[in-house]
Formats: sequence, C-alpha cells, structure tokens
Amino acid sequence: MPDLLDKYRKLKSRHDALVRFGADAVMLVNERLLSPTRAIINGRETILAGTNNYLGLTFEKECIKAGEQALRDYGTGTTGSRIANGTYALHVALEQALADFMQRQHCMVFSTGFQANLGMIAGLAGSNDTIFIDMDSHASIHDGCRLSGAKVVVFRHNDVEHLRRRLERNPPREGGGRLVIVEGLYSMLGDTAPLREIVALKDEHDFQLLVDEAHSFGVLGETGRGLAEAEGVEDGVDFVVGTFSKSLGGIGGYAVSDHPDFDVLRYASRPYMFTAAPAPASMATTLCILQQISARPQLRQQLWKNAQQLHGGLKTRGFQLGFDGVSPVVAVICPSEEAAVVMWNALLENGVYVNLALPPGTPNKLALLRCSVSAAHTAEEIDAVIDAFVAARDAMLAMMAQQSG
Ligand SMILES: Cc1ncc(COP(=O)(O)O)c(C=O)c1O
Repeated sequence: MPDLLDKYRKLKSRHDALVRFGADAVMLVNERLLSPTRAIINGRETILAGTNNYLGLTFEKECIKAGEQALRDYGTGTTGSRIANGTYALHVALEQALADFMQRQHCMVFSTGFQANLGMIAGLAGSNDTIFIDMDSHASIHDGCRLSGAKVVVFRHNDVEHLRRRLERNPPREGGGRLVIVEGLYSMLGDTAPLREIVALKDEHDFQLLVDEAHSFGVLGETGRGLAEAEGVEDGVDFVVGTFSKSLGGIGGYAVSDHPDFDVLRYASRPYMFTAAPAPASMATTLCILQQISARPQLRQQLWKNAQQLHGGLKTRGFQLGFDGVSPVVAVICPSEEAAVVMWNALLENGVYVNLALPPGTPNKLALLRCSVSAAHTAEEIDAVIDAFVAARDAMLAMMAQQSG
C-alpha cells in the first residue's frame, strides 16, 4: 500500500528546490511585530509590504483595549457553535454594526472568510443549481462550489461576453437556480471585476449575484463598502461576502444581504453551524476597527496615495506589473519561478517582506512578487521598498548571468 503522503513527492521536491535559494517562504516567522508595517524577521527589522493590512489598523490602542476588555468579560473562547452555546452579545452587536455599515438588512458572522465563502456558497446552492465563477476565483470559492454539489461553470477572468455565453448555454436546470460569483478586487493582480456590466446581465438573464469583497472592503467605495458601492450597483448584488482578516485587521468573515429569508442559512449552512463561534476578543477588536473605518475616511485616501507611489515607482523603474491601473495590490511579474525566489530572498535580505506567489496559486501560471500597500506605510518606507526591488533585480540578473556563463 502506498504511503498517503507519497502523492506529494513532486510538490515536496519542488519546495525543497526553492528553499535551496534561501529562506522558506511558507514557514517565514515574524519573530516580533513592531507596528502594522514593521516586524523582526530572521533577527532583522523588516518593512512589511505584503500583509493585506490595507488600512493599517492592527495596532490601534483603543481596539487592543476593547479586545482585552472582551477577554476579561467573556473569556478566551466560545467553546461552542453559534447555534448552540456560542452566540454572545458581541457576535450580535458586530452583525448589527456590519449590517448597518453595509446598509443591508441581514448579516451573519463566520469564523473565517474562507468559511464565509464555504458557508454561503454551499448554503445557497445545491445539486439542482448552477454556479458561474470567474476562473481566477479564490480557493474558498472553488471549494465552496465543490461542497455545494451544484453544477459549476467557469468563465474566463473578467470576460463578461464569455459569462453571457455561459449563461445562455446553461439555462436553469429543473427546479434549480443560478448563482454568479465574482470578487470585488482580485488578490493576486489587484484588478477589479467589471461589476456594472455583470449586474447589467441580469436584465437579460435570471441569476442571483454574490460578490466577495474580501480585498475591496474598506478600500473601494466612498465609504469603504467595496466595489459594488464604488460602481453604484449595490442594488444588483444579492449577497456580499467579506473577511475580517484584511482591512478589519482580525480574523473571521461575514455575509450580508437584503434577502428576506437570509437567516435560514443560520440553520442550513454547515460551515456556519458546525464550527465554534469566533472568539469574543476577535469580535470586539473587529467592532472597534469597523468604527475606525467609518470615522476615518482619510485612511482610504492615504492608502490610494501610497498605492500610487508604489505603482508609479516600480513602473518607472521598468518592472512589469500584473495590472496597469493603480491598486493597493501591486504584483511584480518575474521571468521565472527561480527568478522570483531569488528576488524574494534578496528583498528579505534588504529588509523588505513581500508575498512570493507561484503557480498554481497565481493566474496564468505567473511567478509573482505580490505587494499590498497599507495606509500606515510612510513615503520613506515605500521608497525603501522600491529601492529594494531594484537591488533584488540586480542580484537576480547577476546570478542568472553567472549561471549561464
Ligand atoms: C478573495 C478572498 N476570499 C476569501 C478569503 C479568505 O479569507 P480568510 O483569510 O479570512 O479566511 C481570502 C483570503 O485571502 C480572499 O482573498
């Protein structure tokens, strides 16, 4: 009988080959956090340029205090699911605050963003239904589709005409509905969904629409409600999913909707029902950070100013970027996996952390060095990131020249 882990031999040898160039990207340890944008890594003070901490709110004193108070008032954990003993006043307060912020009737909080997608997609769709997803969807969307048992139809990334043809060729099945799922801001390249055109398809085709605003919450829209707000099409979006692990600086996920029967998912969605309710301290910090996001729109302005600086700086220095427009996600396209790993190590040695993103986790099999900008980055930090990229490219080119010579 083969060992169950034998199937990963190829994956393991690929990982071992990459680790030979330096640090292990999948086990990199932040030994100490100094601020939202700085940590000690490998004993060295490092600028964090790949954290998804878009608004830089993870060290807000008031929110840390709120978390400490919740620990004292409610204890360390809930020791039970939301539908048993795990619903605390803080869960309900956060759901109400998120519903108010998103201007929706209903909200459900999940233990992670990943579970929010699993719970919503598998809760909404069943074996008679058809789900249409963008081919660059996050793993949690793909896995939610699989869990649902629905027929899954994939359309080319951001290709509205392809989605239209897919809708035409896949009418609702007997007794089944149709769900289209897109992301507000795609996490690898930083581009956004053509949401207005997708909503317009509802004039010709019958479907419900779910938008995952994981990366766009707090980032897009006049008040930070995401891409649907920015595009003025919230009325056309039936369900919004989001996470606490990015602009909200915590852990957990949520879904909001105006659907009158939305709350049935509380006792129909297994990833919501059969897991422990999120920790009280996490609910308290998220509630506090949500209030900060409402009260401080200038953070969003600063974020976009910083995004412009990083995007412009890298472009001027000749880097090929994954997306032409300015976005808080800035992905540098590397000529090969090896080049990406060499540059990633050189960046780290120069005191800059970014995400190393390799296939199959990337669109079009690209090897990426993915940066995410924060409102908390200073202009000097962003300049240092740009300089470190230039030095890393020089190191990579020198190494490649040595290899070929
Ligand atoms: C688009 C998208 N959806 C969902 C998630 C999952 O969120 P979480 O980290 O809270 O599980 C992520 C996380 O990276 C994401 O990028």
